[in-house]
Amino acid sequence: MTPPIEGFSKLTKEEKIDWIAARFTDNSEETKRILKRYWNPDTKLQQLHDEFIENTISNYYLPLGVAPNFLINGKLYAIPMAIEESSVVAAASKAAKFWLERGGFKARVLGTEKTGQVHFTFRGDFSRLREFIEKITPALHEGAADLTANMVKRGGGITSISLKDQRQVMENYYQLHCTFDTKNAMGANFINSCLERFAHTILKEAENYAGFGEQEQPDILMSILSNYVPDCLVRAEVACAVEDLGEIHGMRPSVFANKIVQAVTIANGDPYRAVTHNKGVMNGVDAVILATGNDFRAVEAGAHAYAAKEGRYGSLTHAEVREGIFHFWLEIPMALGTVGGLTRLHPMVQLSLDILQNPSAPELMQIVAVAGLAQNFAALRSLVTTGIQQGHMKMHLLNILNQLSVSKKEKITLLQEFRDQPVSYRAVEKALERMRISP
Ligand code: MEV
Repeated sequence: MTPPIEGFSKLTKEEKIDWIAARFTDNSEETKRILKRYWNPDTKLQQLHDEFIENTISNYYLPLGVAPNFLINGKLYAIPMAIEESSVVAAASKAAKFWLERGGFKARVLGTEKTGQVHFTFRGDFSRLREFIEKITPALHEGAADLTANMVKRGGGITSISLKDQRQVMENYYQLHCTFDTKNAMGANFINSCLERFAHTILKEAENYAGFGEQEQPDILMSILSNYVPDCLVRAEVACAVEDLGEIHGMRPSVFANKIVQAVTIANGDPYRAVTHNKGVMNGVDAVILATGNDFRAVEAGAHAYAAKEGRYGSLTHAEVREGIFHFWLEIPMALGTVGGLTRLHPMVQLSLDILQNPSAPELMQIVAVAGLAQNFAALRSLVTTGIQQGHMKMHLLNILNQLSVSKKEKITLLQEFRDQPVSYRAVEKALERMRISP
């Protein structure tokens, strides 16, 4: 067994690579070659990437694609998407074009409130604790004034501080439940810094608080923002007369609309289907979040909790036909930033935000939600008509050809051949064999 290593982070990048290559790979020269092939020749740019995290040994590429023709609240966007899955950008583009011809997408932000909590225990009388928190609330604000000054200048800051009795969860357990407005910042660092300051103030004020008895001291457990942001919520929607949906793969518009409504109903009633359904939504959401340097893990975690807010996991999207109009919409919580974090640091993030015409955080929420809705529409449209594999495998064809190391000429011929044929790895392999036997 390879022995553990002490002080790995202190090694130089070359030394880290040598160690990894020698200990964990069969062909250490090839490992080093691959890792270094992905280094950026611009050393300043490479250093920037090296310093994003600890122990960087190379870069990990994902394609950055663009889905054009998104009409959102009357404004046209080309949406940058960073994703590895072959069909996602194509599907988004197709859905964008479909809805462009039917009035486009509408989106609106329903709230921008973020949340954080100081978790603590207190052995003593609840009413005395409540009095204490009420009394020290001005001190909590004052104690964090240096942290909030800039945010307040931008119109944001701490919006509420309240005490929550959580003794049903655990003995003696309480929370300082706090809400924030972080404007165009995602705000994680801001919120966490404020919360840690609140914890410090609680302890300091409690020490000399005459209202507490000998044993009555709060004991801080942890201070952290919540990635569940049901009040930082965005809604994206499309609607058109059922007839205007047109005939879709030979399917009458009313039949198609009904099948979409049924597909959403099933996702609402069955978690096996709901998870896949919502995964399709997140194909669009995550790709834009990654391209714009935001935290997709935070949005994923919060979105799935929101999908289970009724006590049962269900669909993030909704569909209905009302008075001859087909309505399809998505409601999803997300905390995004267009300033701070990677936004000014990562050149591709900066570029993606430029392509989106430098949106505010609420505008970005709308764009991301639209990408999620479009993705879900595209997936359901395929699922209830042709099946998903037709489009998916068509887009995957290039990957199969690359896997089979075809020449440029073979690629052109095979792409042509499979234009109207079902794609599978075996079918492409066979066609290539045939072609190579009798070119
Ligand atoms: C594939 O990445 C996403 C889908 O499975 C979504 C869905 O089933 O709705 C096609």
